[in-house]
Amino acid sequence: MTNHKIIVAIDGHSSCGKSTIAKAVAARFGYIFIDSGAMYRAVTLFALRHQLIADGEVNREKLISMLPQIKIEFRYNPEIQKSDTYLNGENVENEIRQLPVSQNVSPVATIAEVREAMVRLQQEMGKNKGIVMDGRDIGTVVFPDAELKLFVTATPEIRAQRRYDELTAKGETVSFPEILENVVERDRIDSTREVSPLRKADDALILDNSNLTREVQLSWVIAKVEERLNGISLNDR
Ligand code: CDP
Repeated sequence: MTNHKIIVAIDGHSSCGKSTIAKAVAARFGYIFIDSGAMYRAVTLFALRHQLIADGEVNREKLISMLPQIKIEFRYNPEIQKSDTYLNGENVENEIRQLPVSQNVSPVATIAEVREAMVRLQQEMGKNKGIVMDGRDIGTVVFPDAELKLFVTATPEIRAQRRYDELTAKGETVSFPEILENVVERDRIDSTREVSPLRKADDALILDNSNLTREVQLSWVIAKVEERLNGISLNDR
């Protein structure tokens, strides 16, 4: 039995279930799970509340100057066995998942200074390993030396349907075409931005889960983590 811990970096397109995989893997191995997208979403909520976004245009300079006023944390809630996202001490977990934030987060995430601040925090969270982080640049920028990197994708229609089901299950009234448009538009912005664009790391494994059940997908990922852990303990001998 090894005490070694690894870093699992999960990147991929919007709404393809990265967080679901990351959460399950973290629970299985007793690792910390970090949803890096929640951090960009919290910055976006801050910007919206301070009227720094109008018609999709972000007041970049003002937002950059206000970055030191933004404090983002994850606090574990043992009752529901998951972490909630806090913005300056307030639980914003629900609000950051709603459409106004989804519609504005990708432009906010193109700002280099915002990314630098978030990446610094993320690297700090992973310094002791034993972490599963999902996002867009985790395997390429945040943890380029992660022992296991996954690049997850599925067709846009399937991803939009999953997001639609998730929001309607929470009792929200949403329109499928609007969600599909948001998924496609976020992919476009995320993949074409100058700073840390979404791309597969050369050493990432591709996981197209369009036609996979959660169970099959999870067993596949767990097997990959175990392979890495066994590889480390073999090298130790
Ligand atoms: O879960 P979903 O795919 O809807 O997105 P998310 O992980 O919550 O991320 C929201 C947005 O934040 C993405 O569309 C990206 O624009 C941005 N993001 C990023 O730029 N880098 C990351 N590491 C994570 C998210």
